[in-house]
Amino acid sequence: MKMSDNRKLKLSFHGKIIDHLGIQMYQSPIASIAELISNAWDADATEVNIQLPTDMSIDPKIIIQDNGIGMTFDECQNKYLNVGYNKREASGKSSTDNGRPLMGRKGIGKFAGFGIAKNIKIETVSKETGERTVFNLDLETIRKGDTYVNTDPLEMDVEEYNEPDPNRVNEHGMIITLSNLTFDRAPSIEVFKRGISRRFTFNSRKDDFIIKINGIEVEQDYDSANIEFSFPRDYTLEEKPENIRIEEGFAVENISDSHQIRWEINFYKDTIQEQGVQGIAVYAHKKLAQSPFMFNLTGGLPSQTGPEYMSGIVIANFVDELPEDVISPERQRLNWSHRDLKLLEQWGQEKIKELLKLWKKRRQEEREKLIEEKIEGFGSRLGRFPPHEREVIKKALKKLAELPKLDETQFIDMGEAILTSWEGGRLKALIEKMAGVRDMTEKQLLNILLEANVLTALHTAEAVKTKLDAIHGLRERIEKRELENAVRDYIAKNPWLISPKWETFIVERSLNHIMRQALQISEIENLDDWRGRVDLILSSGESLLVLEFMRPGLKIDRDHLSRFEDYINSIRASLESQTGLHFKSEQVYGYLIADRIDDTNPALRKRIEQDEKEKMYTLEWGTLLSQAESQWKEFLDVLIDRSPEDERLQTFKTK
Ligand SMILES: Nc1ncnc2c1ncn2[C@@H]1O[C@H](COP(=O)(O)OP(=O)(O)OP(=O)(O)O)[C@@H](O)[C@H]1O
Ligand SMILES: [Mg+2]
Repeated sequence: MKMSDNRKLKLSFHGKIIDHLGIQMYQSPIASIAELISNAWDADATEVNIQLPTDMSIDPKIIIQDNGIGMTFDECQNKYLNVGYNKREASGKSSTDNGRPLMGRKGIGKFAGFGIAKNIKIETVSKETGERTVFNLDLETIRKGDTYVNTDPLEMDVEEYNEPDPNRVNEHGMIITLSNLTFDRAPSIEVFKRGISRRFTFNSRKDDFIIKINGIEVEQDYDSANIEFSFPRDYTLEEKPENIRIEEGFAVENISDSHQIRWEINFYKDTIQEQGVQGIAVYAHKKLAQSPFMFNLTGGLPSQTGPEYMSGIVIANFVDELPEDVISPERQRLNWSHRDLKLLEQWGQEKIKELLKLWKKRRQEEREKLIEEKIEGFGSRLGRFPPHEREVIKKALKKLAELPKLDETQFIDMGEAILTSWEGGRLKALIEKMAGVRDMTEKQLLNILLEANVLTALHTAEAVKTKLDAIHGLRERIEKRELENAVRDYIAKNPWLISPKWETFIVERSLNHIMRQALQISEIENLDDWRGRVDLILSSGESLLVLEFMRPGLKIDRDHLSRFEDYINSIRASLESQTGLHFKSEQVYGYLIADRIDDTNPALRKRIEQDEKEKMYTLEWGTLLSQAESQWKEFLDVLIDRSPEDERLQTFKTK
């Protein structure tokens, strides 16, 4: 290798190109590098390695290296630096030696690098001669003076030059180094990979062309897991247009005698969030020629929301083979006023309309299926209604399921509320109304549901009121000293009488032997005072509620209390020592209930207070029932307060 200061290269512009050149044109790193990848493709490279900077702090560079045919010194001059040079015209061919369709046409793509860098270094070894040439394109230098405006060529230094050498031939290719970068945030490799893959339709294996970014291969990324419908694949026999043929998933069709296209259009399950992906993109010669769009359709779509789910590609090579160049340099937009493109535009508009119609139909069917499935969940409960009632509720549930804003759990909650109310005979009129409304608006349904809420509250309020009445009745009987087994049985069935929080408890019979043991240990069995007492164990989950009702008329004393403590504690001890029982000893609640407590004994009071800390409560009947009563009243008041406007509920207000 030797420095060559005598060799010169010249940069000359064909005047018309200066307008095209627009450095502004390729401001995104992805667009810029896509141009350099295109050049590697055109040079029959099989691999392009792109090195992106991960740290922007010290002189970051982007390096693009390919193993293509490279350039001889003459080619550097006559092809690379010959701005506006049309390789297709010059060679009379539209494909490379290896038969690849040529991507380049304008002769300006190399300047894409100036969109993101002020300096482009070219290092190339020719496959033909083994010549090696290194030179720099510097934006400032090129811009300086007005040499390029008149057609005087700009003389440029050649940094390094090596004579032809058959031994160097195997190093053929090109290394482009972009430096003095004009962006200052390190690009995300992921975003970059995706962006590059969207600009091309390469198939790395079939096309024998691999692109690597920082060592990772770029693959055609299809978010196939999230595709709901894909056309042409999901056409039914009747839907499938006659003039298409399906080849490797693509529809192949002729839009005129000479113009063939291939396409695939997908609809995703959810709206496409990513920018620039909604719509249909057009590719030519494996390269993006028109970014995703709606084929210039304005309004009149069969579905307003459908386009947000749609993403597709059309491969229309003919647009890159027309005598006129209809592809804009940055490859975002085709020149749709061209007469041959009008045909494609028309086709695209028809296709979009056709597919949106199909999508809408499918979506509806899908939704209906889903709704059926949702309602299925209520199957057994629905089954208990007579057939005509079942139909009415089903219709109402369907109305509910059709609301797009209602999520799964909300649907189930509301559906359950409807069924419960219906079972309680409360909601009949309401649901019938709901089921009968054709095309109910969301607001209408919401009003109905609000009404349902009030009705449910009304229903509950009535139930609470009944409970309060029952407590009142129980109090009367107790006051008359009528505590007998019948009362105990009644409490066993209605433990809410003691407190709303015991509402879910049921009689627990599996612990009989433990109870018996506890009775022996506490010596309750043999004592006179305890004769005629009533005991009861209720359970819910891991909790136990142990109730001891003393004989009517009896006054609780210290001895009673001791034995009650022993009784509860020995139950707890048994639970701890026996495995296989799912009750927790710390969730055993003891209640000792009597007509009266000996209130002359302050020490006894103190002890009762202490016992409460250990979840053993000694109460007089009167206190217990007033507690229950006030808790239920509180509950009722909360219920009523939630629907302050509803007069029906307000009548339940307690004094
Ligand atoms: N990586 C490369 N390997 C070999 N030759 C290259 C490479 N890059 C560019 N060239 C040569 O330089 C010429 C100019 O490239 P440039 O990208 O400016 O124009 P183009 O590819 O012909 O057309 P377009 O502007 O449409 O891309 C190419 O035609 C090719 O001969
Ligand atoms: Mg090019």
